[in-house]
Amino acid sequence: MKVSIISLLGLLLATSCVYESKPFKESKILAGETVSAATLNEGYHTYLEYCVQCHGESGKGDGAASKGLLPPPRDFTQGLYKFVWANYGELPHDEDLHRLIRHGLPGTAMLPWDISDERLKAVTHYIKTFAPEVWEGEDKVRGEKLVIGADPFGPEKKVEAIARGAKVYHVDASCIQCHRGYAERAEIKKWGGDSTATDLYQLKPQDSEFNYKALPPDFTLHELRSVTDTDSLIQRLMYGVHGSGMPGWKDVISDDDIWAVAYYVESLRDLKGSANRKALLEKLK
Ligand code: HEC
Ligand code: HEC
Repeated sequence: MKVSIISLLGLLLATSCVYESKPFKESKILAGETVSAATLNEGYHTYLEYCVQCHGESGKGDGAASKGLLPPPRDFTQGLYKFVWANYGELPHDEDLHRLIRHGLPGTAMLPWDISDERLKAVTHYIKTFAPEVWEGEDKVRGEKLVIGADPFGPEKKVEAIARGAKVYHVDASCIQCHRGYAERAEIKKWGGDSTATDLYQLKPQDSEFNYKALPPDFTLHELRSVTDTDSLIQRLMYGVHGSGMPGWKDVISDDDIWAVAYYVESLRDLKGSANRKALLEKLK
């Protein structure tokens, strides 16, 4: 009994040491913003409480619970984020990281975190300190926000939008280089596309900058990580998924084509679990 009380006390002491330790003595300048030592210390404690199991003490994504996770937890020392609303190579805005941490990434081990706004802000600053070359200094600037033209279709032209999006998807933007096809070969041929690929109806895993192969989702089957509504889908299509092979499409295809392909992807998402999905797959066999 005595032994267990002593070891319990020891454990409490060790835990409180971690929680009272203040590794940051000074403020840091992160992307031009001065962040106080108190905030960074709060971020550190939040991180130890909720994030370290997966993202690891050194932020390299190698925490005790990271083993075998696919996709693996993000290595914060890379300073590269897949689902932010910033161009590749540009720094994201804090709201971006807040949104990702709040909503989590469905279909992965990254859960939504219901922590106070203060802790959310603090932990967001803290994870930047793992990538000082990317974040530290007055000269580091955030990315430009991309702006897309208004929706040229709207609900009344939805059918037209989906039809145009199907062609953009299979032919003009050739999303099927990585994603699977959902149209019949004859239809793709009619649109002037390459209808002969043997892997047309397969998902093609892509080399990533995160040491694993990223699997493009099947929109009629898989959960999407960062897409909850039309707006977040449009943002994703504009920026791409960084380091995972999925390019951004803003100024690569026209804004109207981005809207059209978004309508098309949403129509595929609507097939989830339906008899229509089964019928479509049957037809493509
Ligand atoms: C159970 C494991 C786990 C825990 C705990 C966890 N994460 Fe994650 N996190 C992941 C995984 C896995 C990914 C990568 C998902 C992917 O690549 O699609 C990730 C990705 C991220 C990303 C990158 C998003 C992007 O766009 O690249 C951020 C930021 C993040 N986590 C922050 C946090 C914070 C902050 C906490 C604690 C409040 C936390 N995570 C706790 C597993 C976890
Ligand atoms: C060069 C390969 C490639 C091309 C081309 C490509 N994608 Fe992707 N896409 C991917 C990969 C890989 C993922 C999964 C990324 C991950 O989760 O790590 C993905 C993910 C997505 C997602 C899900 C994002 C999320 O939040 O989960 C959407 C939506 C998407 N792609 C749409 C498209 C559309 C529409 C096109 C064509 C306009 C396209 N992609 C072209 C490789 C590609």
